[in-house]
Amino acid sequence: MSKYIAEDTRKVTTHRLVEMKCKGEKIAMLTAYDYTMASIIDAAGIDIILVGDSASNVMAGNVTTLPITLDQMIYHAKSVVRAVKRALVVVDMPFGTYQVNADEAVKNAIRIMKETHADALKLEGGEEILPSVRKILDAGIPIMGHLGLTPQSINKFGTYTVRAKDEAEAAKLCHDAELLQENGCFALVLEKIPAALGSKVSSALEIPVIGIGAGGGVDGQVLVCTDMLGMTADFTPRFLRRYADLNSVIGEAVGNYICDVKSCDFPNEKEQY
Ligand code: KIV
Repeated sequence: MSKYIAEDTRKVTTHRLVEMKCKGEKIAMLTAYDYTMASIIDAAGIDIILVGDSASNVMAGNVTTLPITLDQMIYHAKSVVRAVKRALVVVDMPFGTYQVNADEAVKNAIRIMKETHADALKLEGGEEILPSVRKILDAGIPIMGHLGLTPQSINKFGTYTVRAKDEAEAAKLCHDAELLQENGCFALVLEKIPAALGSKVSSALEIPVIGIGAGGGVDGQVLVCTDMLGMTADFTPRFLRRYADLNSVIGEAVGNYICDVKSCDFPNEKEQY
């Protein structure tokens, strides 16, 4: 496959994302958590980089996203922002930093924006977090919403299966999506819901809807970078397409290095001073 060249090399803005939706141009989004990965992904032409709280799983090895702290998210976000020239950088507000009350939420949101220089924040939930959403937006900070399977609520769900399959949950999701748009969110992530519901929400909203396991009828797609690069070998949900097998590539490279060191092949004459 040929290398993707982004036609518009200007920095991606929330405004440009809405224009992309209007033009029918799909939005490509990936997560990143560190400088090196973010610089590769940005140079490849990605539209949005999410500093996801999935860092809790794939960087720190936790079972859920709940343990990651505000300080840890700020550390990851600063590393990513230093690398990025074109993509819009969105940072997840971690569990516990926006659910208590709106004042605490805006204080934590301002801290992330001041210390990381990121472009926007992502919060999980609908009506129940609306006071926090409003207060953060009032402070001039753009918000991306996140509905469907919201991993910070995994203990309430008790399962990672597809959300909003029944009418009541689907109706609440549609209502929450409308509320988030009405209140000023610039985009929405929908995770692990029926494809038909993803299409319905995307058609009803003017803001872009980015899906992960929400079908092809939404305005863009997001995947966790370590999953789509095949580094997390034991994670195989139906929605995941692997574009590389870095688990094998890295394993083989490390194996070769070990052999070369042990056999005294490395370093050779040219590789020393
Ligand atoms: O934290 C994350 O990686 C996310 C994506 C799955 C959307 O929220």
